[in-house]
Amino acid sequence: MTAEEKKTAYDFLKTVSSWCCGYTPPEFLASPEFEDDTEPELIQETTPPETTAQPNQSEPSAEKEQGATLGTIADKIASCQNCMLCRTRTNTVPGEGIQAPVVMVIGEGPGEDEDKTGRPFVGKAGQLLDKMLAAISLGRTSNCYIANIVKCRPPMNRTPMPDEAAACSGFLQAQIHILKPRYILALGRTAAQNLLNTEQGINSLRGKWFDYNLGARTIPLLATYHPSALLRNESLKRPAWEDLKAFKARIIKEIPDYAEPFYVQQSSIH
Ligand code: URA
Repeated sequence: MTAEEKKTAYDFLKTVSSWCCGYTPPEFLASPEFEDDTEPELIQETTPPETTAQPNQSEPSAEKEQGATLGTIADKIASCQNCMLCRTRTNTVPGEGIQAPVVMVIGEGPGEDEDKTGRPFVGKAGQLLDKMLAAISLGRTSNCYIANIVKCRPPMNRTPMPDEAAACSGFLQAQIHILKPRYILALGRTAAQNLLNTEQGINSLRGKWFDYNLGARTIPLLATYHPSALLRNESLKRPAWEDLKAFKARIIKEIPDYAEPFYVQQSSIH
């Protein structure tokens, strides 16, 4: 392949991915240098590439990304058929909460109640989550946005397959780019492993601070047990509470007024 052909294929993939995600995925922000595979003699037989200068054509462009909103991402999720989960869903569950949240809470995927309503964490685990967040002055209508790794319910509430999580990752990345949360709280193994790109278990990931890479910036991320795990196993409640206290301690140190009413922004339920 010539460098020109590779560039054309790359640009095509970038356009398709951007269309699917609603913004340019970070993997496509830095354009690689392409080189010819073929012998120089063979290249000379092809039509010489156009030399018209197109400055910054593949540079990250703030303008290109400004078009995507939580609403347009939710629309794309609603019509998404990127994996098998679209066949069994009743509703997609993009997420809900406020713009520019202090905390983005990320779970695994919708369950039965979420699939019925199109809203995240509204079943038993969701009720417990709301209590956990309230205990550290956080909430989905005040200073949080709640989303999941996958936006459609896995049948029988099974763990999402790696290909399903991968098919949905562009949507989550787009949401994080738009929301720019100050902190991320990852709930459970699936969320922690997918966000941190690791296969380590939740017992070794929880309670520690990590950096979630968002292009040029990083977002502090802490993982803890999923509320469903706490409902199944009471003994996990104490370590989860320790994690939440550590989470609050860092937030309050860095944003002392994070729970004050003026921090509350217009709610945008999607
Ligand atoms: N469990 C999750 O991980 N997410 C939800 O939205 C509900 C239950």
